[in-house]
Amino acid sequence: MEEEFVATADLRFMRLALRELHDAFCDARIKKFESDDSKALFLISHEAKTFSQIERRTFSYVDNILPVSAVLKDVDPEYFVLAENITNMLDFLGKKTFRLEVKKFGFKTNDRAKDLEVKIGRAVESRGYTASLSKPEVQVYITLTSRGAIVSVSGEPDKYVLDAFRHFNRSNIRHLNRSEFKLIEAVEHFNVDISKIKSCIDVGAAPGGWTHYLLENGVKVLAIDNALLDYGALGSKRTLVVVKDSESDAVKERVRENIKIVRESDFWSDNGVRGIFDDYELVHIKMNYSSESDTKRLNQIERFDMFTIDINMNPEDAAKIVVSLQDSLKNGAVLIMTAKMPDKKREDYAGDIRKVLSGSFTDIEYKKLPHDREEFTVFARYKDRGPGMV
Ligand SMILES: C[S@@+](CC[C@H](N)C(=O)[O-])C[C@H]1O[C@@H](n2cnc3c(N)ncnc32)[C@H](O)[C@@H]1O
Repeated sequence: MEEEFVATADLRFMRLALRELHDAFCDARIKKFESDDSKALFLISHEAKTFSQIERRTFSYVDNILPVSAVLKDVDPEYFVLAENITNMLDFLGKKTFRLEVKKFGFKTNDRAKDLEVKIGRAVESRGYTASLSKPEVQVYITLTSRGAIVSVSGEPDKYVLDAFRHFNRSNIRHLNRSEFKLIEAVEHFNVDISKIKSCIDVGAAPGGWTHYLLENGVKVLAIDNALLDYGALGSKRTLVVVKDSESDAVKERVRENIKIVRESDFWSDNGVRGIFDDYELVHIKMNYSSESDTKRLNQIERFDMFTIDINMNPEDAAKIVVSLQDSLKNGAVLIMTAKMPDKKREDYAGDIRKVLSGSFTDIEYKKLPHDREEFTVFARYKDRGPGMV
């Protein structure tokens, strides 16, 4: 029997996403159903694949993929046909409670997705079913396009998210900037157990979104960036800022009173850098990482459980920075790195990064996360010989 799937992909990653879809569904018919300024939506028909087979695959460039329960060609202004379709499905499944998630994709209306969920939800409720935000038996996903509605149904309500941006907006996560969501998404997608991470080196840390997420999760952070962090938004963590000798007074004027500022000559000459995290949760070294001497110095500080790097640099060079600082990592340490794509036409950034990392990192994976823009995210684990972390 033929099954149908719906997949979305960012236009900037379209060729890579299509290649992944073709690999996953060999022989499938893949049709572009709709596209807007930033995304394309594909309908895929396949005779052999079931959703559980597809679901087990990891897609790096396809945003999300769901089985299709119905494609409705017309959406009437009262959402009558849509509501009827949903109630038929609930009847078929023998379920009474539901939750809707609507995503607009080229659908012409001034209503926001949230308003549409209320309108369509009411139409379904008027037929004797109950909308439940907290404990629905069934989650119904509705993508409204200019060519009709695509409906998907899941008996595991919290498993999928059609619109990651709304999901985050609803979640009330206290965040310092939008960039922080990239790290939250990466930790979730790559199944990083953040409770096991005690310390992290964060290169390209300013203004501090990633550092904020790490500190909020009890991780001690060595932040490297020549720019200042938004120390006020980072909360009341014990903080040390290491500045160039020439700029110490100027920096003092710009940061909170209870932050300790130390000149770099004092910091490094003191031989006391090991153990610095006994006294501070956040150590920010104000510098642009580059040279051999930076590496030697930084490697003295601590062996970290995690390495995060989010800098505007060719991804191959960013990966080289990671490798040059690898002696700062514990065995099994987690790497999360954004790979910026300076040239959209080139596709094999992932291959370049793998070449640089594979000598000392394992389990290398990639994912274009919802909050990634001209970039994707790389995960890897450090494989050293020394005593390891769990
Ligand atoms: C995209 S921002 C990082 C955003 C940050 N992850 C956050 O969540 O707020 C990139 C940062 O990389 C820093 N940067 C670029 N090259 C660097 C280098 N060689 N060493 C350290 N930081 C660098 C820039 O100063 C800039 O603050």
